[in-house]
Amino acid sequence: MVISHTASKNSRSLLDDSRLTITDKEFRHLREFIHMHSGIALSDHKRALVCSRLARRLRHHNLQHYSEYYRLLTENDHDGLELVAMINSITTNKTDFFREPHHFRFLAEEIFPAYRNNPKRERPIRLWSAAASTGEEAYSLAMTSLEAMPSFNERDICILATDIDTDVLSRAENGVYTHEQGKHIPEALLRRYFLKGQGSHEGEILAKPVLKSLVRFRRLNLQDDPWPMQTPFDVILCRNVLIYFDKPTQLKLFRRMAGMLKTGGYLMLGHSEAIYGLVDYFKPVGHSIYQCRGKVAS
Ligand SMILES: C[S@@+](CC[C@H](N)C(=O)[O-])C[C@H]1O[C@@H](n2cnc3c(N)ncnc32)[C@H](O)[C@@H]1O
Repeated sequence: MVISHTASKNSRSLLDDSRLTITDKEFRHLREFIHMHSGIALSDHKRALVCSRLARRLRHHNLQHYSEYYRLLTENDHDGLELVAMINSITTNKTDFFREPHHFRFLAEEIFPAYRNNPKRERPIRLWSAAASTGEEAYSLAMTSLEAMPSFNERDICILATDIDTDVLSRAENGVYTHEQGKHIPEALLRRYFLKGQGSHEGEILAKPVLKSLVRFRRLNLQDDPWPMQTPFDVILCRNVLIYFDKPTQLKLFRRMAGMLKTGGYLMLGHSEAIYGLVDYFKPVGHSIYQCRGKVAS
């Protein structure tokens, strides 16, 4: 059985740190701090999760109380490294290859044929996986692109994959997964785009260079304003991350994403996420797929 990253972040600390408890005030302070720096909104029932996920950080610094850890974050984290480590501990990174497959079908059947059949279409095609986690989403985009447009290469397709969590990004960049994690990759694609691990990589699959060449991984906090990207995208996948944000943050991000899309570009959200009332910016064109109506200031 594969333990998801969510579970492993939890269970390890629950086993080791069951003696640590968090007071109301400590939870309130940390919750506000996390919200301010990541946009992640934690309700009261996430208290045990915060307690267990941050316990490892307390142990790392030899601290007994969450108030000491809060002081470290707010007064002594001069290089910002603890903030990064704290956010890495708090994020939930569940993902899969070809998760919510209708999005990849839509790309293959509706979006990519327009590029394939029109050599004058602007290149490179720019895709953004905006909460990339361990990279499965970005590599699924790369496989879908290459299957639809076999003659295209990194000059024609450019996939930016960003996440706030530096731990998951370094795993994404490695492109090494267990066979279990690869179970949603169709057999033919597995053979075409992955190597079978040997020796110390026995039981693993490794993304081939042709796949990796299309994807750039970068740390990006969606809360950062402005974003560093200058050129608009054809497609943005922002899936299963907005659920962690409150409504005002979601609305602000939807508007900013509209500003980062070409006219007629597409935004794809997770299954339980939806754009409410932003009809000036987007029109729905499929299940959790929206088309950008025009360029709007971000
Ligand atoms: C549940 S995963 C979703 C992965 C992938 N998009 C999918 O649908 O399978 C959510 C990801 O959002 C990232 N995340 C959370 N807050 C973020 C923020 N403020 N900026 C960028 N990424 C963030 C987390 O680190 C995590 O990897």
